[in-house]
Amino acid sequence: MVAEGLAGEGRFYEAPLVTLLPPMKSIVILISGRGSNMEAIVQRCAAEGWPARVAAVISNRADAAGLQFAAAHGIVSAVVAHTAFTTREAFDDALAAAIDAHRPDLVVLAGFMRILGERFVRRYEGRMLNIHPSLLPMFPGLHTHQRAIDAGCKLAGSTVHFVTPQLDHGPIVLQSVVPVLTGDDADTLAARVLATEHQIYPRAVRWFVEEALQIEHGVVRHRAAEPQLLAAL
Ligand code: GRF
Repeated sequence: MVAEGLAGEGRFYEAPLVTLLPPMKSIVILISGRGSNMEAIVQRCAAEGWPARVAAVISNRADAAGLQFAAAHGIVSAVVAHTAFTTREAFDDALAAAIDAHRPDLVVLAGFMRILGERFVRRYEGRMLNIHPSLLPMFPGLHTHQRAIDAGCKLAGSTVHFVTPQLDHGPIVLQSVVPVLTGDDADTLAARVLATEHQIYPRAVRWFVEEALQIEHGVVRHRAAEPQLLAAL
């Protein structure tokens, strides 16, 4: 405590000792299945003491395996089943309500396998990230690994990007690159890429919660010029 005198008044008061901690950011993670990227983010957030907490995990499928990890780690979870809605807009609205209940600073799509409408995407513009297992803008959409193999690519990888209404498109935060090896099939390549996803997605989320990112003309830069590429070659 710091005691300060008030000049001329002959009395003292104690000013409170203020510790300037950055405000904790709230993260909501959306999944549809395994949830290994979600796990990596939860674990790195705890291990590295980010100024953030994963407030909730939300799935569009009740059988998503990742929900078990969330429950085991005391993370609130919810299911908003897309099958319960007749229109995309109705599903998007219910999903937004479930998300907004946690007042998130950041929404993280981690293997969330639903296409989201423009109104939903605009609602979270600049505060929603996705990871896609290709070197965007190559191979957006499904079957990315097989398409990379079929095209004879020698490199593959993954991309963390801000979400915009165009599918698998948007300002790129981080990319990882791996080799495509002779004899690879979609599964072996996917496993090699996934190992790098688990490194770059937590890193990108950490940068966001630390307010280390800036977007100019659709290009994302790290304020301290941290490398935005992980090369696992
Ligand atoms: C990852 O390959 C991710 O890039 C893609 O879907 C997969 C999800 O895996 N969007 P997981 O559910 O995080 O294990």
